[in-house]
Amino acid sequence: LAKIEINLEDIGEGKNATFKWRGKPLFIKHRTPEQIEIERNVDVSTLRDPEHDSDRVKDPEWLVVIGVCTHLGCVPIADSGDWGGYYCPCHGSHYDHSGRIRKGPAPTNLEVPEYKFTDECTLVEH
Ligand code: FES
Repeated sequence: LAKIEINLEDIGEGKNATFKWRGKPLFIKHRTPEQIEIERNVDVSTLRDPEHDSDRVKDPEWLVVIGVCTHLGCVPIADSGDWGGYYCPCHGSHYDHSGRIRKGPAPTNLEVPEYKFTDECTLVEH
């Protein structure tokens, strides 16, 4: 099945959950108000792959990204690295709480897949 439904009530605030979707890891992070604030205020002109946080999330509480490092495809570790988002141990790429590359060899931000919320607590990947 290409489509999965995720019950967001199972993911506590500040937690990252990993699912499998189309053979790839899918990360869903329930961001805290502090994390949301930090990512909203990043000066995008300082970024390697300049994207506003608001263009990467549909609801600021929820970050949804493909868990594949854009360098050579390793699976990053959640809640790690210098920006606290994700850290790829293969060659040291650091991503923030918006999944944006901040340091290390990865050329682009973690990919945001197609998804939608069907109600307040259900997210569907398709
Ligand atoms: Fe992630 Fe190289 S594959 S840093």
